Amino acid sequence: MCGIVGYVGPQDARDVVLEGLRRLEYRGYDSAGIAVVADGALSSAKKAGKLANLEKVLAERPLPAATIGIGHTRWATHGGPTDRNAHPHLSADGSVAVIHNGIIENFAVLRAECEKDGIEFTSETDTEVAAHLLARAYDAAPEGEGRLADAMRTVCRRLEGAFTLVATAAAEPDTLVAARRSSPLVVGIGDGEYFLGSDVAAFIAHTREARELGQDQVVEIDRHRGLTVTDFAGAEVEPTAYTVDWDAAAAEKGGYDWFMLKEIAEQPQAIADTLLGRLGVRGELVLDEVRLSDQELRDIDKIFVVACGTAYHAGLIAKYAIEHWTRIPVEVEVASEFRYRDPVLDRSTLVVVISQSGETMDTLMALRHAKDQNARVLAICNANGSTIPRESDAVLYTHAGPEVAVASTKGFLTQLVACYLVGLFLAQIRGVKYEDEVSAIVADLRRLPEAVAQVLAGMEPVRELARSLADANTILFLGRHVGFPVALEGALKLKELAYIHAEGFAAGELKHGPIAVIDQGTPVIVIVPSPRSRESVHGKVVSNIQEVRARGARTIVIAEEGDEDVVPYADHLIRIPRTPTLLAPVVTTIPLQVLACEIADTRGLDVDQPRNLAKSVTVE
Ligand code: M6R
Repeated sequence: MCGIVGYVGPQDARDVVLEGLRRLEYRGYDSAGIAVVADGALSSAKKAGKLANLEKVLAERPLPAATIGIGHTRWATHGGPTDRNAHPHLSADGSVAVIHNGIIENFAVLRAECEKDGIEFTSETDTEVAAHLLARAYDAAPEGEGRLADAMRTVCRRLEGAFTLVATAAAEPDTLVAARRSSPLVVGIGDGEYFLGSDVAAFIAHTREARELGQDQVVEIDRHRGLTVTDFAGAEVEPTAYTVDWDAAAAEKGGYDWFMLKEIAEQPQAIADTLLGRLGVRGELVLDEVRLSDQELRDIDKIFVVACGTAYHAGLIAKYAIEHWTRIPVEVEVASEFRYRDPVLDRSTLVVVISQSGETMDTLMALRHAKDQNARVLAICNANGSTIPRESDAVLYTHAGPEVAVASTKGFLTQLVACYLVGLFLAQIRGVKYEDEVSAIVADLRRLPEAVAQVLAGMEPVRELARSLADANTILFLGRHVGFPVALEGALKLKELAYIHAEGFAAGELKHGPIAVIDQGTPVIVIVPSPRSRESVHGKVVSNIQEVRARGARTIVIAEEGDEDVVPYADHLIRIPRTPTLLAPVVTTIPLQVLACEIADTRGLDVDQPRNLAKSVTVE
């Protein structure tokens, strides 16, 4: 969603801000803008559409060189993606400029108040109200150091909803001020220069030294005096310092046509990095960062896994593994529903929240609800320093490196691996598995990076198949047991990237309705469990393939090497290496990622930034 960049320092702010916006493009946006302070005045430019449109405007009408600037990529909420609604928004008197991410819920009341005072609004956004209020508060604040921050605190105390606001004032060429409530913002500290970003991608090309801002805090950055952080009441607080462990190269395409292709290719390494340092020499789990005591872990009698989209699918798979290994009941729920149905939670409930970005608002709200109900919260997260891990009781980072493509790939596989680690760790602590059972599964986990690399090496026929599917109107996905969430994930990837109608089904549900949609030539992708899986699930899926084929489906079958039972019924056969049943989603998902990516590319679509989508969804 919206990308925010701020800069103050010796470099040309125009270049730094535009470069930061380019690095945040992956978040998804539909307009962009920039403002700088030079010669005691604010100058700005903004344009609907991609950054290239803004750059064209800037080429025709350049902004003055400056050492302070703010920039924004907007994902429309209040008001369409037009030039007028793009950020920054300037106050009516031109004294301050504001950029914003989030939703100001009481903007209608505040707007009416400003209009009553004679202010004419130039956009339909909720943000503009913050610009006018800030100018008024700035006027009223005592002159001298800290004036803009003082005004920002006054405004924040009046705002309801979620927001990150960054402001600059015409009269303050060395000062940037920002505030955050339930919306992301990080500060980068360079050598005599400072950066603000929605995430660290905005500035990792310049510095890896960062500061986390807490909830309801205001940061004032003065080029000469440095950084001051306060709460909304003005009390000073110490921000948490951290070093970003991603490098700039990790956020580049590195020769691939799409970030998604690069991120698919990085999966063996990403999984290895998730496992790194967490598997002991005796085949035991070492999860020191799970800051819950052994007794607290033994007391858990129920687990909820709460997440959105692809991360939710990781949770669905986790349920099979965690229940099987620990015998603790696990419920999995989409975060946007969780708190509204009043789930039964208490001190012995563990809520596992999964989020690649660590900023998904629905997941964050579910986390806060769980904490309000006294449950313990463990986050599985990729982005260091983000809000979800910061507010959780414990965190297991996936260490997958930056995921830039909107479609989650390495994020998903590493979430799965982290879930396996949590399940096994609980089994180990609670003594429900013999040590040799745990170490046997640990050995299987260690083999995953190689298995994933093997699948990736054999993807050319899948790409060829994808090209032949590019004109399909509907593609169905079937699976049983852990193959069912994989089917859901395959369908989600196809929908979001190729805009093709796709649905995932539990294969056994097919005959209860969905089979009616199968027509001559309908592509049906079937994830077949291992022939060694429990209670003849394999045989049942083979029967399901025959059922759909008998009704004209074109069958695309993903099956283990050596599984000959599927051969007569597969129009296309994709082989994956032998993998233990519960870990199989790590390998069976890969052809589905490649398929969706290649179909979208064949259809001429933007693989990394599909229409209407944002990488991290920071509004409810
Ligand atoms: O950052 P998160 O893992 O919390 O994001 C959750 C979903 O928004 C995300 O997985 C989304 O479904 C992806 N676009 C799927 O590829």
